[in-house]
Amino acid sequence: MSRFARLCQTSIGAKQVMAVTGLLLFGFVIGHLLGNLLVFAGRDSLNGYAHKLRDLGALLWVVRVVLLVVFLAHVGSALRLWRLNRAARPEPYAVEAHLVTTYAGRTIVMSGLLILAYVVYHLMHFTLGATNPEYLKLMDPKGLPDVYRMMVLGFSNAAVSGVYIVAMILLGFHLSHGLTSFFQTVGLNHPAYNPCFKRVGPVAGVVIAIGYISIPLAVLAGLVK
Ligand code: HEM
Repeated sequence: MSRFARLCQTSIGAKQVMAVTGLLLFGFVIGHLLGNLLVFAGRDSLNGYAHKLRDLGALLWVVRVVLLVVFLAHVGSALRLWRLNRAARPEPYAVEAHLVTTYAGRTIVMSGLLILAYVVYHLMHFTLGATNPEYLKLMDPKGLPDVYRMMVLGFSNAAVSGVYIVAMILLGFHLSHGLTSFFQTVGLNHPAYNPCFKRVGPVAGVVIAIGYISIPLAVLAGLVK
C-alpha cells in the first residue's frame, strides 16, 4: 500500500482529504450559485451562460468527472472518519459532553448524507430529466436549451421548491461547520484572528443558503416568470 493510501486510512489523513475536497466543492458551490443567479438577469443571460458551459464539450466532461471523484472522496473520507471515531469510542459518553459544541457540527454527518440525497434528486430533476423529461426538450426563441423556463417550471411547484429550500438550509449548516473545520485542519490558528476564522464559516453558510433560496422564492413570488 502506498504512503498516501496508508495516510488516508488514518483519521488525520481522512481529515486532510476532507479539507482539500471540501474546499474544491465549496468552489463549485460558489461558482454554481453565481451562474444560477443569472436567472435574475433574464432568460438570455442564463441560457447564454448554460450554453457556453455545454459548449466546453470534452472539457466539461473532464470537470464533471473530477467533480464526481472529489465528491466521492469527500463522502468516503467522511464515512471513514465517522467509523474511526466510533471504533475509538464504542460506548457513548455516560454524560454527553459535546466536544463539538455547535448544532451544525453535531449534525454534520446527517446534513452531509441529506445533501447527498438532494444532489441525486437535483441531477434527476434538472440534468438527466429523469423526473421531468419534458424539461430537456425546452428551447428558447434563439434555439438554445431553455434552462430559464426549466427553473421557472420546476420551482412553480411549491413542494419541489420546499425540497430545495430545506436542502439549501442544510447546505448552509454543513458549510458553516465544514469551513470552520477546514481552518482547524489546515492549522490556520492565531489568537488575534481566531474570532474572525470562527465567523467565516457561519457567515458563508448563511450567505450561500440565502443566495440559493432566493431563486425558488423569486419564482414562487412571481418575480421570476
Ligand atoms: C436553487 C438552487 C439550485 C439551482 C437553481 C440549480 C440549478 C441547476 C441547473 C439548472 C443545472 C443543470 C445545468 C445544465 O444542465 O445546463 C444544475 C446542475 C447541477 N447542480 Fe445545481 N442548482 C442548485 C443548487 C445546487 C446545489 C446546492 C448543488 C450542490 C450541493 C448543486 C449541484 C449541481 C450539480 C453537481 C449539477 C450537475 C453539473 C453538471 O452537469 O455539470 N446544485 N443545477
